Amino acid sequence: MKEFRHAKGKRLVYLTAYDYPTARLAEEAGVDAILVGDSLGMVVLGYPSTVPVTLEEILHHTKAARRGAPETFLVADLPYLSYATLDRALSAAERLLKEGGADAVKLEGGEEVAEIVQGLTRAGVPVMGHVGLTPQTASQLGGFKLQGKRPEEAERILKGALALEAAGAYGVVLEMVPALLAKEITERLSVHTVGIGAGPHTDAQVLVFHDAVGLYGEFKPRFVKRYLEGGKLIREALQRYAEEVRQGMFPGEEHSF
Ligand code: KIV
Ligand code: NA
Repeated sequence: MKEFRHAKGKRLVYLTAYDYPTARLAEEAGVDAILVGDSLGMVVLGYPSTVPVTLEEILHHTKAARRGAPETFLVADLPYLSYATLDRALSAAERLLKEGGADAVKLEGGEEVAEIVQGLTRAGVPVMGHVGLTPQTASQLGGFKLQGKRPEEAERILKGALALEAAGAYGVVLEMVPALLAKEITERLSVHTVGIGAGPHTDAQVLVFHDAVGLYGEFKPRFVKRYLEGGKLIREALQRYAEEVRQGMFPGEEHSF
């Protein structure tokens, strides 16, 4: 992976984006990589989880994000069950890379997906892994909670990350795991780790755009830092717009022909 061969220890910045304006803002802000995550389902499409997201939906949004950020490394998530077999994974990846303009794909799981990751990378598809809390199968993990607290759980996550690296993954996302486990995995891997809710020791960090700018709901997980109360600002602006229309203040002379 040309762009990420020297990513180890670089503290790279990943951010999700799902459309033209958000990807454009991410690129203008100078992030190192954009992820068209299947968090799309929750923060943009209003689904209760990432499970319903389809390949067509990810593809549609990958194309838009690519148009907004033509110069930035772009990873697209493989949706739930789109990589259940190598054939399916290859054809999904083919569409995301060729039609969508993605540079890489990401999929969830450890040892159980290593063979798929190996098949993809052997075919020439850059793949990012994702272990710890894996939202597509969160119900099997007991919900959206910290993973890897118990030693045997931590061991499984570490083994998963090592298996992904051995299978050719160019990097691995660590989601909602203890900071010390993320540190150990980061030290053991020669490819870069990307943390979310995984503490400060991963090589890179990722945040969901709508979480970072305050556009998603009232619920804020502990690992999210809101850099902007965007929802509040936008709501207030729209209230002003509605008020001005109702009071005959908009449009004014300067907006009229
Ligand atoms: O879908 C997503 O946004 C993700 C990141 C949180 C890693 O997978
Ligand atoms: Na995802």
